[in-house]
Amino acid sequence: MGDGNQAHWLAGRVAVVTGASRGIGAATAEALAAAGARVVLAARDGSALDAVAGRIADAGGQARTVPTDVSKPAEVDRLVIEAERSGPLAALVCAAAVLTPALFAETTPEIWAETLAVNLTGAFLCCRAAFAAMRRAGEGRIITIASLSGVYATEKFPGLAAYNVSKYGVIGLTEALAVEGKEHGISAICISPGAVDTQMLRRANPSLRPGLTPGDVAAVILALLDSPLTPASGANIPLFSNA
Ligand SMILES: NC(=O)c1ccc[n+]([C@@H]2O[C@H](COP(=O)([O-])OP(=O)(O)OC[C@H]3O[C@@H](n4cnc5c(N)ncnc54)[C@H](OP(=O)(O)O)[C@@H]3O)[C@@H](O)[C@H]2O)c1
Repeated sequence: MGDGNQAHWLAGRVAVVTGASRGIGAATAEALAAAGARVVLAARDGSALDAVAGRIADAGGQARTVPTDVSKPAEVDRLVIEAERSGPLAALVCAAAVLTPALFAETTPEIWAETLAVNLTGAFLCCRAAFAAMRRAGEGRIITIASLSGVYATEKFPGLAAYNVSKYGVIGLTEALAVEGKEHGISAICISPGAVDTQMLRRANPSLRPGLTPGDVAAVILALLDSPLTPASGANIPLFSNA
């Protein structure tokens, strides 16, 4: 998987990664760039994005940064327009998300609205803008990231009502993309990791021992993007511990 010597479908192609300023998104951007993709990095923190782009450049890869709030339609549209300046948009990885822990009775309308705005509407906006660009290109591969928290009949934890609902939505969004993407050569796969060692997990549940690293998840995303996914498009793939 991604040994660096195989020909990667991504080599020379343009890939947008959201949530690329840290954690899973940053690791994914680095993995895609190492596979030869021309990566466009999006998140709100421009200097953190520049640091990731710098690491990619130091490793011999190509990366550009477009500071973006994925909950803002105009910023997302601009992100895709900027990405297309590098060439046809081939791939999108939606890793941007927030998690504000709050017990259900204490979940304010503001927490609920922000969580849905970033995690679900943000994914919708990015996929919608990318879908149009990929239709122009005649092909495209989309990876969305939900969570085991969004998968039916897996263990749930208190304080995550808004987050979990947003992730259930991302899984449904991916199925819808697959249905309408088929005739345009666009596939969409969702991955649903368990606990990954990132800032999000450390803040949300410091006692939970992560079974996955951001690099583990990035390797799965790279392998999926390297594959012709059409027959599996719409699937949601749970990722369990690597330990
Ligand atoms: N860690 C886990 O255990 C775990 C498990 C399952 C699924 N996931 C999912 O994996 C993905 C990555 O999470 P992570 O663990 O790597 O979290 P993280 O370290 O907290 O990173 C979250 C990323 O999202 C970006 N982001 C947040 N709000 C944004 C906004 N409005 N617009 C644009 N970017 C925004 C952040 O950048 P800025 O702050 O610079 O905007 C950051 O780059 C998320 O979808 C998360 O739900 C994580």
